[in-house]
Amino acid sequence: MCGIIGYTGYSDARGKLIKGLKVLEYRGYDSAGIAVKTNGQDEIIKCKGRVEKLEKITESITNSTTGIGHTRWATHGEVSDTNSHPHKFGKVTLVHNGIIENYKSHVRKYSLEGKLQSQTDSEVAAAVIDSCYDTDPISAIYNAVKEFKGTFAFAVMFDDIKDKIFAIRNVSPIVICRNNDGAYIASDILAIGEYSKEYFVLPEMSVAVLEKSKVEVFNTSGEKIEPEMMPYDWSNNDSGKGGYPFFMEKEIMEQPDVIQKTVAGRIKDGFVDFSSDNIDDSLFENIDNISIIACGTAMHAGLIGKGLIEANIRIPCEVHYASEFMYKSPIINKNTLVICVSQSGETIDTLEALKYAKRQGAKSLSIVNVRGSSIARESDSVIYTWAGPEIAVASTKAYTTQVCIFFLITARLAQINGTMSKNEISSFIEQIELLPDAVKYVLDSREKLHHLANSMLSAEHVFMIGRGQDYYALMEASLKLKEISYIHCEAFASGELKHGTIALITEGTPVVALMTQEKLKLKQISNITEVKSRGAKVITLIKKSLNDGSLECSFELPDLADDFMVVPSVVAMQLLAYYVSSDKGLDVDKPRNLAKVVTVE
Ligand code: M6R
Repeated sequence: MCGIIGYTGYSDARGKLIKGLKVLEYRGYDSAGIAVKTNGQDEIIKCKGRVEKLEKITESITNSTTGIGHTRWATHGEVSDTNSHPHKFGKVTLVHNGIIENYKSHVRKYSLEGKLQSQTDSEVAAAVIDSCYDTDPISAIYNAVKEFKGTFAFAVMFDDIKDKIFAIRNVSPIVICRNNDGAYIASDILAIGEYSKEYFVLPEMSVAVLEKSKVEVFNTSGEKIEPEMMPYDWSNNDSGKGGYPFFMEKEIMEQPDVIQKTVAGRIKDGFVDFSSDNIDDSLFENIDNISIIACGTAMHAGLIGKGLIEANIRIPCEVHYASEFMYKSPIINKNTLVICVSQSGETIDTLEALKYAKRQGAKSLSIVNVRGSSIARESDSVIYTWAGPEIAVASTKAYTTQVCIFFLITARLAQINGTMSKNEISSFIEQIELLPDAVKYVLDSREKLHHLANSMLSAEHVFMIGRGQDYYALMEASLKLKEISYIHCEAFASGELKHGTIALITEGTPVVALMTQEKLKLKQISNITEVKSRGAKVITLIKKSLNDGSLECSFELPDLADDFMVVPSVVAMQLLAYYVSSDKGLDVDKPRNLAKVVTVE
């Protein structure tokens, strides 16, 4: 949460900061600000609202080549100009991502009562660094942060130090790169990736010093260290809107391609092969149980993974909300494979749960989109999705590619454990290879979904019903609709509806019913009929081969084997949610109260 950017070099800093903040805005968009060095002073301009507003009010700053910037997702203190970053105390100006849990004790210890402008923990951090500062900025930063409890990433400038930016982090990410024009720092490589083909992740509790012509990193003993450089391989074009009005639409439309990229390199001679991920079969051997850990959409992908693994491999598999995992004494040991799923690779709940699982001796594998992210680095093994940058807050292509990785894992486990014959594995893989075309079919029929979306525009509540894997797919569809259209929506296992919730169905209540699972068809028809006879306005999405006229079909889904229907089904429902939100005139990419990367617990 919150985006950090910084630049020191030979060009206009304000332009680079604003450009970076526009990219980072998806991390939080409550307020934005920059601090630039002009004639030796640190000048701060910040405001409640979007980066666009900040861009206008900073137009006059043309004479600075060093600065830091921030886009905020409020944690401590209301959304206001004053609580926006950067914060300045004494000689210290900083931007902060994360939470200083014990900041109140520092207010007392450093006698800061009545001296602070804002209600933020970040301003307290600036004050503590300032108190520790005499002439040595690196020691001041170390001495201050060793008193902080919590997660943080700071970019810091000192009034009396020309053209230098200092940075330190604990858990919250910071990436750094440089080129002939200067040095760049950000909370997310997307913001600075265009400036260099390589970058590094600042090691935890090391201080980086950015100067115009060099970047140095020092460990806690003050020794200079060489951080590991990583390639940046996402093209800059990947992060534009590509002519679409919203990133979400662009990202939905990219799914055939990114699914293809995600699976193609991992299928060799008709079998799944993870050697390009440096994963050998020992990771999957001697496993008694699997625990999948994730949040939100990634957790929904995990539910699909559970269904696939339990049905096809017969290994018990639990799915956990990352935020609950370690507090419920999970039963894991050295024969547990923990699979963490995360688009950003930075979700703090997932990261902390992963660390906990490793401490209990579990083996770990992560399914991650962002290369070099914290979760990727913390796991024993990583399988990257090839979704490319996902900017819209509502996750779409990350989900479908995560589900595809679960298809691949299932096929590999089946081969290792002998739970499927060679022919069965071949047919399973053929289905994986059919996915891009199945998704294309849905995308090509999107106008029908647009039309269906009309019937939900004025709804206050929508219910979604399905059985088996369809129920898990609907959990994701329901999250999509809620988060971008602000319509209350709940997904139910169809059979469960009559144990209470059916009381909420009245004349005209929209109910989305998904029917793709052959063995559950007759039961699902009965459940759909039950809600219809209570007045529900039912929108049915039915797999082609099950569409035999027994029900009115609102949208026909292409035929795949049941296990694979989740992908075209969810893509159809992503579009449904997208059209509801865009036709309501909402900010599809930046729904209220949300942020793309959730780095607070
Ligand atoms: O980056 P992650 O995949 O770990 O993020 C987890 C959730 O915050 C995320 O999936 C969220 O639910 C989606 N943005 C919702 O569309």
